[in-house]
Amino acid sequence: MSFDVFLNFNGDCRAALSFYSEVFQTGEPVGLMTYGQNPYGCAEADKERILYASLPIFGHNIMFSDCPSGEPYAKGSNIALTLGTDNADEIRRIFAALSEGGEVHMPLDKTFFSELYGMVKDRFDITWQFSLTSFQPTATAFSTLARERYSVRSFSSKPIEGEKLAAILEAGRIAPTACNYQPQRIKIFTEEDFAKLDRCSPCRFGAPTVLLVCYDSSISAKRSTIDGKEIGEIDASIVTTHLMFAAAEQGLGSCWVAHFDPARLTELFALPENIVPIALLPIGYAAQDAKPAAMHTNKNKLEDILI
Ligand SMILES: Cc1cc2nc3c(=O)[nH]c(=O)nc-3n(C[C@H](O)[C@H](O)[C@H](O)COP(=O)(O)O)c2cc1C
Repeated sequence: MSFDVFLNFNGDCRAALSFYSEVFQTGEPVGLMTYGQNPYGCAEADKERILYASLPIFGHNIMFSDCPSGEPYAKGSNIALTLGTDNADEIRRIFAALSEGGEVHMPLDKTFFSELYGMVKDRFDITWQFSLTSFQPTATAFSTLARERYSVRSFSSKPIEGEKLAAILEAGRIAPTACNYQPQRIKIFTEEDFAKLDRCSPCRFGAPTVLLVCYDSSISAKRSTIDGKEIGEIDASIVTTHLMFAAAEQGLGSCWVAHFDPARLTELFALPENIVPIALLPIGYAAQDAKPAAMHTNKNKLEDILI
C-alpha cells in the first residue's frame, strides 16, 4: 500500500519539476509523460502539459502533474493525497465515504494507467486520488493470457475502441528490437482497405481491423560480422507477439497470419522497397461462434521441446 502526495500545476509543472529537482537534488523526473503522449489523445493546447511525473524527495515519491487547460485551478489547493492499494473493495468503501458531502472529480473507473482510479474532493476540500496498484500484469496474469489466448478465426463486426487499439499499438512500440534499432513499421488496415487486402490473403476472418507488421530493412540490424543474417524479421515477430498478447489483454481476439502474398501487398498498398511485410494480424471481438481450433490444444510435451 502507498500513501503519496500529488502536486497539481496549471501549465508550469515542467518549471516546477526543474525547480524542485534542483533544490532537492533528485536527478531527472521519473516516468514523465505529457498529455500529448497519453493514448486517449488530448486537446492541442494541452500537448506539452505534464500528465504525470514524479520526484524522489527524501525517500518519498512526490507526484506532479498539470491540470488540463481551462480547468478551474486555485493556487494553494493544488495538493492531492494519493492512496495506492491492491484492495479494490477498500478503495470503493473509502471513495464512497469521502464522496458524501464532497465532490467527485473522476468517478472510480478503469483508465489506461490503472484498473481502478478515481479522484474526489471531500467535504473539507481535501482532494484525494485512489489507484488500484495490483493492475500491473503479473507473472500469473501473463501465464493466464498465454494459456487462454487462441487464434481467433471468426470475428464480430464490432469496431475496436480507439483506446484499445492505442494500448495494443503501444505494446508494439515498446517491444525489444535488436540493438534497439526499432525497425518495426505497422500499417493499420480498416474497412476501406479490405477489398485490396482480401486479394492478398484469404485470412481476414471478418476482422474489423487488420495490422500489418513490417520491418524497415534500411535500418534493421544484420549479423554482419558473422553471417550477415537479417534480424528485422525476428524484431517484427517479437512486435507481432506483443501486439497479439496486448490484444488478448484488452479482451480482443487476433490471429497471426503468414499466409499472404507479400509482393501483391507491396504493390497494391505501394509499400516502399525497404518495408518488408512479415505478419498480418486481424484483430477484433471474437464472434459468438468463435472457438479454438483443434491445433490450439495439440501441443508437444515439455520433454519433446527440450533438446
Ligand atoms: C508465424 C505464424 C504464422 C501463422 N500463420 C497463420 C495463417 O496464415 N493462417 C492462420 O489461420 N493461422 C496462422 N497462424 C496461427 C497458427 O495456426 C496457430 O497459432 C497454431 O495453430 C496454434 O493455435 P493457437 O494460436 O489457437 O494456440 C500462424 C501462427 C504463427 C505463429
